[in-house]
Amino acid sequence: MYPPTAVPGLVPGPSKLSRSPGSFTLDDTTAIRATPGAGPAAALLRTLLAPATGLPLPLAPDGRIVLVLDPGLTGLGAEGYGLTVSGEAVLLRAAGAAGLRHGVQTIRQLLPVAALGAGPVRGVRWSVPGVEITDVPRYAWRGAMLDVARHFQPVSFLRRFTDLLALHKLNVLHLHLTDDQGWRMPVAAYPRLTEVGGMPHGGAYGREELRELVAYAADRGVTVVPEIEMPGHARAALAAYPHLGNFPERRLDVWKSWGVCDTVLGVTDDVLDFCRAVLDEVMDLFPSPYVHVGGDECPTTEWHRSPAALRRVADEGLDGPDALHGWFMERIGDFLTGRGRQPLGWTETGRDLPGSFTVLAWRDEDHGLAAAGRGQYVIMAPYRSTYLDYPQSAHPDEPPGQSGDAVDLPAVYATDPAPAHWGAPAAARVLGTQAQLWTEYVATAAHAEYLAFPRLCALADTAWSGGHDWPGFRARLHHHRTRLDALGVPSRPSAILRPERTTR
Ligand code: ACM
Repeated sequence: MYPPTAVPGLVPGPSKLSRSPGSFTLDDTTAIRATPGAGPAAALLRTLLAPATGLPLPLAPDGRIVLVLDPGLTGLGAEGYGLTVSGEAVLLRAAGAAGLRHGVQTIRQLLPVAALGAGPVRGVRWSVPGVEITDVPRYAWRGAMLDVARHFQPVSFLRRFTDLLALHKLNVLHLHLTDDQGWRMPVAAYPRLTEVGGMPHGGAYGREELRELVAYAADRGVTVVPEIEMPGHARAALAAYPHLGNFPERRLDVWKSWGVCDTVLGVTDDVLDFCRAVLDEVMDLFPSPYVHVGGDECPTTEWHRSPAALRRVADEGLDGPDALHGWFMERIGDFLTGRGRQPLGWTETGRDLPGSFTVLAWRDEDHGLAAAGRGQYVIMAPYRSTYLDYPQSAHPDEPPGQSGDAVDLPAVYATDPAPAHWGAPAAARVLGTQAQLWTEYVATAAHAEYLAFPRLCALADTAWSGGHDWPGFRARLHHHRTRLDALGVPSRPSAILRPERTTR
């Protein structure tokens, strides 16, 4: 591509990049010219560069950093951008706001690494090398899931994590808000969900802080996709409201073990009303077109024994209690589509979720193919290459994680959201890919960051560039690691053993 010394390695790698003569230096006199609609991108550039550079970067009609929003640039798609840097000017153009935001992140990466620091840096010349870049993502869905149910993380960390995603042009933060071990989503109609379910391992969010997080992420081009688990992985809800279970007289605690829990939601009208009421509040807070409703790891043993569940099987003419899973998900899916949202769920087989669902294929790759074959949209999340709760290597210093073989950097990089043998029709159903950070063994923000990076860099590169250039990625990552250092992302296991540092 380009000699690594000529342009600092960018992650993800751009579709087309060439070096051109000269470099552009930003100083106290540099101003931004923004065409109509490009103002938010100018504000983002100013906000991101302010802490380290202190540059004022005001708007001015003759500004030499020119941000152009031009819907006529259809070749760049919804998220692509063109960037031209010469000695005289920086010209960033895109057809949409998302493209401008990605271009801003590229400018940020082209600056000296010190520009990423959290505090003022003196004596650095803030120069951007001359380049000509045209950059369009391969996949529209480039995500990271964070499990805040198993171990709660404060919203300050979610903002920092969002910033780290945006730096890598990842555009989805999927929040796993509820599980057997915790319920972190405030629901006004059911206050005990967080009063009871927020207790172990942390706390719960406030409505306003979630609303602010959604806005903060949107300013950075990141959509926050909420997940409320059902009908399995719902023990925290059952601890708060026992009547939602299959044996309403039974009292349960919020689960203290990890794994798959037998206690699941009942299938009565009351339970469906509860789920709809919760999802109404979720949709009020999260404008995301997609709403995730779980669907995974739902043992049906209780439905085989519950009189109410067996009555439901008979009334609906189902084949047996196992069919209640699809029946339940179909009703929830219909509710979401009726509200204009897209239901999203974890598929276990590629055939288990109703056709209205977009599916995350987390087990075998072939499940993605099976779902695509049924006409469903698919996001690839195979655990052997996108689950970041597995250790990064077999080194004995790695902190304890999910038991199993390491998911190392080459494995993540090799994630292929639409393998060639799938053929074009199935590939056209693939929206993209995302990484999963489950937190059974992850109690602190520093530990979460340690597990996320640099593996998220590899996922971002694959999702953005469709990457098949491991040596090229490694060369770019070599420089990019200095950016992660400047951002304070822990790179060694020992770092996570230190007392928790505070986040903004
Ligand atoms: C999952 O790992 N149960 C989606």
